[in-house]
Amino acid sequence: MPFGVIYIAIMPTSDTGLDKTLAALGVTEAAQVVPRFAQVRSQFDGQFQTVADESEWKIFRDTWLGRKSGVLTLITDNWLKPATPDLKRVVGQQLNELRAHVESQIEARRLTVESGAEEAALARDRVDLSLPGVLRLVGSHHLIRQVFQEIEDIFFSIGFSIVEGPEIETPYYNFEALNIPEFHPVRDDMDTFYLDSKGAATPLLLRTHTSPMQIRTMEKQKPPVRVIVPGKVYRRDNPDATHSFAFHQIEGLAVDTDITFCDFTGTIEYFVKQFFGPSVKTRFRPSYFPFTEPSVEFDVSCPFCAGTGAAATGGSCSKCKGAAWIELFGAGMVDPAVYGFVGYDPKKVSGFAFGIGIDRLAMLKYGIDDIQVFFQNDVRFLRQFP
Ligand code: PHE
Repeated sequence: MPFGVIYIAIMPTSDTGLDKTLAALGVTEAAQVVPRFAQVRSQFDGQFQTVADESEWKIFRDTWLGRKSGVLTLITDNWLKPATPDLKRVVGQQLNELRAHVESQIEARRLTVESGAEEAALARDRVDLSLPGVLRLVGSHHLIRQVFQEIEDIFFSIGFSIVEGPEIETPYYNFEALNIPEFHPVRDDMDTFYLDSKGAATPLLLRTHTSPMQIRTMEKQKPPVRVIVPGKVYRRDNPDATHSFAFHQIEGLAVDTDITFCDFTGTIEYFVKQFFGPSVKTRFRPSYFPFTEPSVEFDVSCPFCAGTGAAATGGSCSKCKGAAWIELFGAGMVDPAVYGFVGYDPKKVSGFAFGIGIDRLAMLKYGIDDIQVFFQNDVRFLRQFP
């Protein structure tokens, strides 16, 4: 190969005789010149088809038009310049034709290669809006949270507002100020988690109910008071289908100058009908809490057997065990002794309080027979309540 050029795959080979003079190739007449150029041209046309992208195009261009050793330069140097005067005219004319062809084709190829690259880039970047989107898993509220919200909405609608309080309490708020002195036997019922609080000014415990917030609320504000207190509470209960060491309550407290037992039962009845449906009935039975007097236990007529105690399929209703009533929650008129702890005048104010167990209500309403599922976070359970 002449001129030390590195020939690549698409270079014309020396078959075309580019490295020799026409004389050396035995070309002596004008008639022999034309086929030589035709051969070069057909080689160009053949290679031309294989140029697919910009980098191939560049190599192709340099191979043919490169100033130092492109094919056209070789022809000029080896065929045209040394040609005999007889042949010079025809070689020059053929070379011009070939150059015009090569230059125009290479330019045309540049345009197609460039627009091809553009199209490919466009195709690569095109967003197909008809493709299904990526589904991201969005969580949902836990059933307990949903029931909290249901109950909160009901009490919002009759003028209650929400307050929240600490889950770590002092015995004073959890017991004493609720009229449960240290020797009182009900403390035994509340198997309390005491914290290891050596050196603290007062012992600390996980609240066993939301009732301490009755005290904290009344300490902070004068009547009228109408609040509910949603939150977590803790007792040292062994876990089974109806017990958990952590569960949820909503405390309610209404105190004003003229609140009667009728306001109390009317409020509870309104809530129960909103929650279980208008056809349920409520009743209350005497009960005992140190911080309410009188104290009651509210029952609802069984929403599952329409208060008949009988299952539709015969036998007794599995929800109320044939009793026709279901025990709901404890409540009562605030014991006047409690007002003494918060600086309210028991002669001037009256009120009621209730403590609703959320887990129990959720189980009842949604037919769940094991409280533990609320805490296991098994998505097969959670997904049933989106
Ligand atoms: N705090 C009581 C409990 O957890 C429930 C209750 C609240 C009773 C308010 C009466 C008034 O059992």
